[in-house]
Amino acid sequence: EAVVVDPISAVEAVGPGPHPRIAKPSDIYGDERVNSSGVDLSVGAERDRLTAAVAALGTLTPPPETTSAQIDKAFAAARLAQPAWNAADGPARAKVLRAMGDALEAHQDRLIAICAREAGKTLADGVAEVREAVDFCRYYAHLAEEKFAAPELLKGPVGEVNTLSLHGRGVFVCISPWNFPLAIFTGQICAALAAGNAVLAKPAEQTPVIAAEAVKLYHAAGLDPRLLALTPGRGETVGAALVAHPGCDGVAFTGGTETARRINTSLAGREGPIVPFIAETGGLNGMFVDTTAQREQVIDDVILSAFGSAGQRCSALRILFLPKDTAEGMVAGLKGAMDCLVVGDPADPGTDVGPVIDAEAKEALEKHLHRLNAEATVLHRLAAPAEGTFFGPVLAEIPSADFLEREVFGPILHVVRYDPEDLSSVAGMLASRRYGLTLGVHSRIEAFAQEVAELVPAGNVYVNRSIIGAVVGVQPFGGEGLSGTGPKAGGPNALSRYALERAVSVNI
Ligand code: NAD
Ligand code: ALA
Repeated sequence: EAVVVDPISAVEAVGPGPHPRIAKPSDIYGDERVNSSGVDLSVGAERDRLTAAVAALGTLTPPPETTSAQIDKAFAAARLAQPAWNAADGPARAKVLRAMGDALEAHQDRLIAICAREAGKTLADGVAEVREAVDFCRYYAHLAEEKFAAPELLKGPVGEVNTLSLHGRGVFVCISPWNFPLAIFTGQICAALAAGNAVLAKPAEQTPVIAAEAVKLYHAAGLDPRLLALTPGRGETVGAALVAHPGCDGVAFTGGTETARRINTSLAGREGPIVPFIAETGGLNGMFVDTTAQREQVIDDVILSAFGSAGQRCSALRILFLPKDTAEGMVAGLKGAMDCLVVGDPADPGTDVGPVIDAEAKEALEKHLHRLNAEATVLHRLAAPAEGTFFGPVLAEIPSADFLEREVFGPILHVVRYDPEDLSSVAGMLASRRYGLTLGVHSRIEAFAQEVAELVPAGNVYVNRSIIGAVVGVQPFGGEGLSGTGPKAGGPNALSRYALERAVSVNI
């Protein structure tokens, strides 16, 4: 479908502020309140409450790795409980999902504090994280009511009644990453439950505490504990065992593309029924700017897209394509805006960029920076605290998208200067990497945005705004090619692969 750009209203919709976001309508799905992911903690009681919640946090003790006997038991319990959950209709399941959302909201301060301490998320990112998790509960509750209430009556010949109904598949294994340790963890679980499945949920090994906290809240909110088991542990042990288990009826995975391949191979080698594999993976995301773009807006959106969440979002901007005639001014503006970023303790409300997740991630970024220094041009780098796993944001110029073979996961933004005459070959090079997650365009010319969107296939295209922070129910999120299988999380078709379809024809 064509991308329609009205630069004037697009800019007006974004409004002022250091981290502008598109205004969020309040009536997207029924009477539900849709949470905004725009967060301002510069003033107010929320900031003080959150700072106190971090201070009140005791030592975080991760749960032990799940044993294979525990995995067997969890599958067996889930198998027993799932039929009744599936037989309850969508509206009945929706009630429990809504209660889960309410429970998350009621405990948000503690959850945000854990996000800061366990995952290194800034407080503002923690707020957005909890809001997104709540949105997933409420949105999937809405889909359960809409799509799983009663069989759909289909058109057919006179004398025959044809219906189509949706059912849970059985027991789903949900495997999630550390970078959205609550939102994605919750989103996968809620989607599987909404469709009538039981769930074994494996969080990333870096973030089991927030996951354990969430599971406790779900059980306390009324979910039969047999329907949701937490199975923490390493990917190559617990994750691999869950996927290979004969009790697994489907896998929902979010994480790296290489891990998705491994799981896919494991599933392909299994005996018995073919199970669905939903994979949401990495991206090599570009933004194309033309000479008509509004400079200040570009700079705000680029800074947020590339360095927000310390660049640790699958949606984050990795390559900025600047037209050669205005590139110099844009780069100067970006350097100035980078200098305003505060890199430091994520629990300090004034911090813009927290640490990267662990020493391994920092080392991978250092290695890439070394290559940039040797083979490209580092334009700017911010200092970062030496203690801990901080990595100062970097701006570097590379000759073309060919320079990057895969996703670089952290606060490093690459710039490519291009000649507008060469747009199709420059964009074609990015497309040839075969990722397809997010794509940004900044232009006042509708035809330019359309052309770029045709040249670079991507699951989420953003015009004249940042490319991160998809809102549940508003921007269904997910990629193509190396970036994922779909269906999109937080979209109207999200539950389709979690469910079985059954058609019944009755001759009357
Ligand atoms: P990862 O692939 O290393 O791990 C993700 C999960 O898979 C973890 O729970 C891990 O324990 C598990 N795992 C690892 N090996 C496994 C195996 N052999 N079998 C089963 N499970 C296994 O990813 P990560 O480092 O946790 O997360 C960052 C990645 O996630 C980035 O590539 C990012 O782009 C991607 N991501 C994608 C999306 C999206 O929606 N497309 C969202 C967030 C993150
Ligand atoms: N859904 C997340 C975003 O849009 C990854 O940034």
